[in-house]
Amino acid sequence: MKGWHFYPSSNPLPQNLSLPPTGIPIPPLKETEILVRNHSTTLNPIDYKLFELGLITRLIFRKATTPGIDICGTVVKVGAKVTKYKIDDVVYGSLPPAPTYGGLAQYVPIAAHAVAPVPAGLKADDMVSIGVVGMTAYAALQPFIKPGDKVFINGGSGGVGVMAVQIAKILGAHVTTSCSSANIELVKSLGADAVLDYTAGSIVTQIKDSGAVFDHIVDNAGVPVDLYQACGPFLRPKGKYVQVGIAGFNLAGLRQGLGNKIASLWAWGKWEWIFVEAPGELTATFVQLAEWLGEGKLRTVIDSTFEFEEVREAFETLKTGRARGKVVVHVAHD
Ligand SMILES: NC(=O)c1ccc[n+]([C@@H]2O[C@H](COP(=O)([O-])OP(=O)(O)OC[C@H]3O[C@@H](n4cnc5c(N)ncnc54)[C@H](OP(=O)(O)O)[C@@H]3O)[C@@H](O)[C@H]2O)c1
Repeated sequence: MKGWHFYPSSNPLPQNLSLPPTGIPIPPLKETEILVRNHSTTLNPIDYKLFELGLITRLIFRKATTPGIDICGTVVKVGAKVTKYKIDDVVYGSLPPAPTYGGLAQYVPIAAHAVAPVPAGLKADDMVSIGVVGMTAYAALQPFIKPGDKVFINGGSGGVGVMAVQIAKILGAHVTTSCSSANIELVKSLGADAVLDYTAGSIVTQIKDSGAVFDHIVDNAGVPVDLYQACGPFLRPKGKYVQVGIAGFNLAGLRQGLGNKIASLWAWGKWEWIFVEAPGELTATFVQLAEWLGEGKLRTVIDSTFEFEEVREAFETLKTGRARGKVVVHVAHD
């Protein structure tokens, strides 16, 4: 099959990708998986961050792997223990980070509990654009908020951000979010009630000056790094701070995560800091997201779309950190 391979080395990820002209093997299938003829995928920051850790990357990834964790396509083979899906069903879903057999390939094996059916009329590019990011935003919001709550979403214009703003609104929250000046109109169009421009000055100062007190905070950006430790005056006691993005996959990011955890324990649950956690069974979340998409309550924001041969360029776009919504890659089948 056609498929991209990542070979571990010290170079930045796009340089370590290859599209072998003779193809790559169609992956094996486990009993609990389905094999999907993939139509589209998107790139997520985790697709390159784990592959750019130098020696650590080379120690973890000993052989070629295929990146890409969003998939949408047609079922072509069903594992012996799968009862919910049959050949020709159209599904979408997400793989765990750093898969061996990922979405940048024509055929992808995926656990049956990590997909949901695609309702008639919805398009593959839209499904993959609500996959990982929608599931992450849902996990950061749905268990914690109720209608009327005031929510702050740090970073409302990236892949997770555009989902988080919309999902928080669907769940009935009052939403304040941050982004750069160029994206203020975008996040307003998604439903944000108040927008803070982080290029206009410190977000911490802007929130404090506004006098706002939030019931819940979701941090997609991971910057400023001290946002959690400064949140006492603007997160109500017992409110939760959910970290989605961190400052970097490096010592600074590790220090940020550990520092926040220690500060959270020190606060004795007054302002609890947690790292976002996806549920083990994803079908229910994906069914809900697809339903909202079909009803027009949720819309996708696609920054750019690339053809299968243009994956390196697609990664360069994502790596700018400035993508408005999702970077989509079409999977060619000719
Ligand atoms: N833990 C998980 O399960 C999980 C899952 C998915 C993603 N993530 C992480 O979450 C983070 C976001 O992912 P993503 O897919 O949304 O990335 P993304 O699409 O690359 O996000 C880029 C966006 O971040 C915004 N941004 C950059 N600096 C900002 C700042 N200082 N304040 C506010 N917004 C800022 C930019 O908006 P402007 O151009 O407007 O600045 C840009 O639109 C990444 O670190 C990713 O690794 C974690």
